Amino acid sequence: MDGTGDRDEGADMSSTVSMDQLGQRIAACTLCPLALSRIRTVPGEGPVPSAYLFVGEAPGRTEDETGRPFVGRAGKILSDLLASCSLSRDEVFITSVVKCRPPGNRAPRREEINSCLPYLEEQVSLLSPRFIVPMGRHATMALFGMYMLPFPSFGDVRGREHVVREGESRQERIIVPVLHPAVATHNPPARWDLESDFQKLARIIHSSR
Ligand code: URA
Repeated sequence: MDGTGDRDEGADMSSTVSMDQLGQRIAACTLCPLALSRIRTVPGEGPVPSAYLFVGEAPGRTEDETGRPFVGRAGKILSDLLASCSLSRDEVFITSVVKCRPPGNRAPRREEINSCLPYLEEQVSLLSPRFIVPMGRHATMALFGMYMLPFPSFGDVRGREHVVREGESRQERIIVPVLHPAVATHNPPARWDLESDFQKLARIIHSSR
C-alpha cells in the first residue's frame, strides 16, 4: 500500500440526496460547453451503495445516444474484464469523470473535468465504495487530484493500490488505476496489458477481503 491521501467530506456532500436526484441534476447541467453538443447525459449506473466504483473518461457515441455508461465496444471489453475478476456488471457502479460526450470523442478538457468533478465526489459519498478503479490516465489524474495523491505519471501508479481515508469515520478506500478498456479497440495487442491490470486488480480485491 503506497498512498496516504486524505480528503475531508465537505460540510454538505449531499449524502441525503439520492443517486436518482443527482442524475436529474446532471441531466439539467449547463456548467460546461459539452451541454450544447450532447444528446443525453450519462450519469452512470449500478447498485447504491456499492463496494466497487469503476470510473471511465467520458461517454462515447453509443453512451450519448442511450444515456448508459460503457455500452459500446469498450463496454463489451469492460464486461469481459469484470468477469475475469469474478465481478458482474450488476454488482459494480460504472461512471465516467465527464458525464457528457466530447464532440468527436476527443479527450475531455481540463475545464470540463473540473466542472464535472463535483458530481463524481457526490457519487463517491453516496456509494461509499471500498474500491475505486479509475480507468485510463484522465480518470486517474482526476481521482488522484481529488484525494491529493502524488501523480508522477500514469505508468507509475497503474496496477497498484493506493489507500486513502475519507471523512470523519476515516473510511478506507482503495484506488487501483488500470488501463482504459478502449485501448484494446485502438491497439489490439494492448489487450494483454489490460488483462494484466485487471488480474492485478483481482488479486488486490481478493487480498483485501
Ligand atoms: N468510455 C468511457 O470512458 N466512458 C463510457 O461511458 C464509455 C466509454
